[in-house]
Amino acid sequence: MYSNIFDSHAHYTDKAFDDDRKIMLDSLTESGICGVINCGADIESSVFSVELAKEYPFIYAACGVHPEEVDDLPEKYIQTLRKMLQNQKCVAVGEIGLDYYWRKDNKELQKKVFEEQLCLAKELNLPVIIHDREAHEDTLEILKKHKPKGVLHCFSGSAETAKEVLKLGMYIGLGGALTFKNARKAVEVAEILPLDRLLLETDCPYMAPVPMRGKRNFSGYIPYVAEKVAEIKGIDPQTVLDVTAENTRTLFGI
Ligand code: NI
Repeated sequence: MYSNIFDSHAHYTDKAFDDDRKIMLDSLTESGICGVINCGADIESSVFSVELAKEYPFIYAACGVHPEEVDDLPEKYIQTLRKMLQNQKCVAVGEIGLDYYWRKDNKELQKKVFEEQLCLAKELNLPVIIHDREAHEDTLEILKKHKPKGVLHCFSGSAETAKEVLKLGMYIGLGGALTFKNARKAVEVAEILPLDRLLLETDCPYMAPVPMRGKRNFSGYIPYVAEKVAEIKGIDPQTVLDVTAENTRTLFGI
């Protein structure tokens, strides 16, 4: 059995956990999970993340507005986030970024909200958790401008893009997608990625790794991702879990 499993990106606030959230979270430490960063996607889920973090010692919160949630934002959302992020268990601004897969018609608004939150993170000296889907070029350009500390979660770019991210001193998050049959790009990224820049994540309830693909994901499936990384790197899966847990603590100051 594996230990020291740190899930750097989860959404236990999602409605997929409404029926059994407490049972699920109460059992996590028994499955070897030592920590979870629970990410907000809008104001409501960010507030909920902070509540979970207050209740469970091993849960930490990230608060932020996801690019799919930028419409109809209250004018003072930055002030709301700033206040929320004062909480001791809030360790990052996230998840934030750009998503041109779902929406191409509001790119300017997505960029504006992304940059406002990067400025907030800088002001509060917090790392950021970045979502980038089919927006690699614009994301990189904005990251080069703001130079935040942080992670590109569920990284879907090429090995070349990964090298650019590494040059910025940022981390790369890999999850279930690495185990999928068509994961050629993610495998190439894992090959070139130094282990000290890797974080493991679920993005649960989504992205369950093979052989659980299609099921509801949870932090207990992270070892399948660690085993894939271990196979690619020719090392022991527990070493992957140990190093990535330490990386997560280092980045988020835990
Ligand atoms: Ni996410």
